[in-house]
Amino acid sequence: MLKDKKILLGISGSIAVYKVADWVRELRRAGADVKVIMTRDATRFVSPLTFAALSGNKVHEGMFDPDDAEKIPHINLAREADLLLIGPATAQTIARLAHGMADELLSAAVLAADSPILVCPAMNSRMFLHPATQANLHKLKEFGYTVIEPDCGNLACNEEGPGRLAEWPRVFDGVLSALSKQDLAGRKILISAGPTREPLDPVRYLGNRSSGKMGFALAAAARRRGAEVVLVSGPVSLADPAGVETIRVNTATEMADEIFNHATSSDVIIKAAAVSDFRPEKRCDLKMKKSGADLALPLAVNQDILLTLGKMKKEQKRFPLLVGFAAESHDLLEEGLRKLADKNLDLLAVNDITAEDAGFAVDTNRIMLLDRNGAAEKLPLMNKTEVADIILSRVARMLNA
Ligand code: CTP
Repeated sequence: MLKDKKILLGISGSIAVYKVADWVRELRRAGADVKVIMTRDATRFVSPLTFAALSGNKVHEGMFDPDDAEKIPHINLAREADLLLIGPATAQTIARLAHGMADELLSAAVLAADSPILVCPAMNSRMFLHPATQANLHKLKEFGYTVIEPDCGNLACNEEGPGRLAEWPRVFDGVLSALSKQDLAGRKILISAGPTREPLDPVRYLGNRSSGKMGFALAAAARRRGAEVVLVSGPVSLADPAGVETIRVNTATEMADEIFNHATSSDVIIKAAAVSDFRPEKRCDLKMKKSGADLALPLAVNQDILLTLGKMKKEQKRFPLLVGFAAESHDLLEEGLRKLADKNLDLLAVNDITAEDAGFAVDTNRIMLLDRNGAAEKLPLMNKTEVADIILSRVARMLNA
């Protein structure tokens, strides 16, 4: 996801320095080339050797390194970076950046940069909440820097409050957003995800194995590309994606209500949810007892939300783009083309549910994309975030066509 990206990581002196050793590994695992600047105080917590070994590059510490002098490090490092990631950013470093100081390598490089700058504060909560620090952070935002707010919790100084260095998933999301093309800016995207649960009684339900990972990956990726995203999700164990309006539902009927509520104000609807096709005809208010239970389970058919949207699209002049998913075990192309036509879709992602590494509950997916002209494209095995980005690139292209 960060192939060919050059990231300059600026590390200042906080106990949280040890945490960013892992960031370097994660950035490299995502394909980035990472160069590191450490302030003098940062090197007191963790040796530059650690970061040199992890990044595979020399660590830069001073403005006046004789081995580097001809390269003018503060200019060169800033110039070649696609993104500057400052973390942990101490109160002192934040103050330096807010005042445009250039008295050491890190702040001088920040001044010389014209790429996106992400600042990840880490400090004691009173230092963080002090009006001076807050005013400095406000200034950084005015400069156009992105501040990844710290987490709240137990701090190294044994106090509780805001000031813990943000955890990697949130930082990584910030890195990806800053480097993403904003090709969905100003677009409203409605996404459904996860399974639905159709209750039999207060404890039992009909459900399915969907984990919601594909829909959540789509929501996060669309938000990173600048879209305003509403995510309607059935019961899953995933946290709300940052910056996404997430609405939790249980049944197919509840999901349908939310989708129809938001449908016409959207530019795109992506239905990644595995909606239950059936529900028990009757829901018992009391727990069903096994003694004397009627073993037959009469079912009622749920409304096919996507099919209904496809019909509405036929009747309305201006209607959102419709993207569906199909879970198939055989005849993928034939079944996909049939669903594309029946549901009047612009794009359909067909999953082969017989493949172990794709579909339900795994992090990877192997899909075939069918578009409204019937063109088919088979994608190799990818993680769901990569699949999400490919689908969204198709969506962006259709919106701009
Ligand atoms: N879908 C929906 N409402 C339903 C059932 C499905 O909106 N009640 C949507 C899903 O979100 C998905 C698409 O329809 O985007 C395809 O679902 P799938 O179960 O694969 O296909 P079905 O049309 O239900 O056909 P079948 O079960 O016969 O394969």
